[in-house]
Amino acid sequence: MDYFRYQNGQLYCEGVPAERIAAEVGTPAYVYSKATLLHHYRQVAEAFAPIHATICYSIKSNGNINLLKVLAAEGCGFDVTSGGELYRALQAGGEAQKIIYAGMGKTDEEIRHAIEVGIAAFNIESEAEIENIDRIAGQMGKTAVGAIRVNPDVDPKTHIKTTTGKKETKFGVDIERAERVFEQYRSLKNLRIGGIHLHIGSPVYEIQPYIDAVKKATDLIDRLTARGHKIEWLDLGGGFAVNYERPGQAHPVTEHAKALVPMLKDKPYRIALEPGRYISGNSGILLTRVLYRKMGGQKKFVIIDAGMNDLIRPTLYESYHHIWPVSPDAANVPPQRDKAFEPRNGEIVDVVGPVCESGDYLAQNRPLPVTKRGDLLAVFTAGAYGFAMSSNYNNRPRPPEILVDGDNYTIIRRRETFEDLVGPERVVK
Ligand code: LLP
Repeated sequence: MDYFRYQNGQLYCEGVPAERIAAEVGTPAYVYSKATLLHHYRQVAEAFAPIHATICYSIKSNGNINLLKVLAAEGCGFDVTSGGELYRALQAGGEAQKIIYAGMGKTDEEIRHAIEVGIAAFNIESEAEIENIDRIAGQMGKTAVGAIRVNPDVDPKTHIKTTTGKKETKFGVDIERAERVFEQYRSLKNLRIGGIHLHIGSPVYEIQPYIDAVKKATDLIDRLTARGHKIEWLDLGGGFAVNYERPGQAHPVTEHAKALVPMLKDKPYRIALEPGRYISGNSGILLTRVLYRKMGGQKKFVIIDAGMNDLIRPTLYESYHHIWPVSPDAANVPPQRDKAFEPRNGEIVDVVGPVCESGDYLAQNRPLPVTKRGDLLAVFTAGAYGFAMSSNYNNRPRPPEILVDGDNYTIIRRRETFEDLVGPERVVK
């Protein structure tokens, strides 16, 4: 579900024509819909309200401070994974007591700062990290709070690069070892280990891997409780998938909740969730213009002004993003955005960017309406891990981010300039 709709033959973001934004701010540009962001946050919060789950939006998916502010005002907490993300969360007015700090390689400085500002808990990845957090909290004369991230050895059936909850990924403590770890660190002086954390992968299209992981985690908590450990919360991580390719591809979160809420309803511990993509994914599109067309062998290429530096997901994960003209010819105006729609009199093309790599594409062998130089295209479901993973590769200034709210839009991050590109460099004489 989103608020990007075709009206009068052209794409609107809420009440604003996408053509207008592109004409005024240029392309490429990320455009976000506030109503879509809120809709998905509220959908998650309501689905898990029967178990009073704490929702901690995963900042890594899209950390623009203005989006975080919208979510913080709704009472949303945050999942951060670096000192930079913690900084953003606090800048956005996020409450420290609703911030969970995860991450494989937390530095001493990051740990110290997180304790200082009073985050709710660390999600801890290893024995070595447990000892380090305890040591640092001790030096500070404080008590830190943490959850052990367990690796439940469940296959989330997603891309290998975003699979995390299977044995022999770098994440978490093997679930069989978890009891021993709890025993070993039962009475640390400066770290209270009170939670279990999971994150099986991202995006996860099926419900069963969550059910399997939750079953394993709740069984583990039962065994730990029997041994006298007090487990105060279970954090299920994130990973809920969204519709990248076609409507109905991903389960709405309500379906996940239908399966998971009954499993967790009468538990004496609190539940947390860390969705990122589910909240930000459908909230954003990338607007880009066609620069050229060319043939290469039998292949047709549509060359656009956005590249792999702006949206790396297609080339990094072979991921599919729906692409469609903003102002298509009459036959190609989708009657409803939430129904699959095939191009009429279309063509099969590779949609490629300006970066000097063969891997620089946003779509391959894609049926699309015929486009020409100057046409504006929308790359959908680009709100999560789009701008967040963008770079300056090929010395391309990163695109602006625009937030639409009803009939108005605001530039919430300006387009980078050439000066920004060289700014941190020191030219030595
Ligand atoms: N919690 C933890 C511990 C995570 O590692 C992640 C994502 C999340 C929550 C949020 O997952 P989400 O709800 O957004 O799926 N760059 C990849 C995705 C990497 C996900 C990394 N961790 C992509 O573009 O698909």
